[in-house]
Amino acid sequence: MAQSVATEKLKIEDWVKGLAAIPESEFSLQNVQDYVIRHAVRPESLAKYCFFSRGNYTRNLVFRNTLFECMTLCWDIGQHSRIHNHRGQNCWMSAPIGRLRIQNYRVDDRDAAKGTCRIVPTELYDLDAAHPTYVNPMEPVHEVMNLAEFNERAVSIHIYSKPFDSCEVYYRDKGAYADVPLFFTSEYGKLNLSEKLL
Ligand code: SIN
Repeated sequence: MAQSVATEKLKIEDWVKGLAAIPESEFSLQNVQDYVIRHAVRPESLAKYCFFSRGNYTRNLVFRNTLFECMTLCWDIGQHSRIHNHRGQNCWMSAPIGRLRIQNYRVDDRDAAKGTCRIVPTELYDLDAAHPTYVNPMEPVHEVMNLAEFNERAVSIHIYSKPFDSCEVYYRDKGAYADVPLFFTSEYGKLNLSEKLL
């Protein structure tokens, strides 16, 4: 699903304005992917939305309306997401800074009453400035990793449509999954008061 790009480079605020100008009826997987491929974000314009923490990757809200939310995720070397889904919502990802590895999973033997399932690794691919991508709606469970061997910080931009505040997290060793709430480290360039960035 990764595609190479030849693009116009925009400040993040202008890039988001362009996204917000896409009518809801045209906010499809392919149309938004085409937009992301044709319009790259100037890495330096992300500074206001970049916070790193030694504890975990950070989630930083740039824009949200009823149709979509856009955020930066800041990954220190070696940090990774949990294995998770996106609540059935579309997700487009690009990485103007650094490189990330994405591992997709298939979910087998889901038992909603017991909260159990088996997850099986499937597609593996990398995300960087030249290769934006989107989450495969047919196989939406995945993990995002800034591998230690990449040896650099990464900043990715994620668009979710529609926005969601919780997701399912999958615990491979336990063969279980559960709902978890999602939080922002910063919103619109301001660090949340409870954040210590430890
Ligand atoms: C997150 O939103 O925290 C996870 C990143 C992703 O897979 O899009």
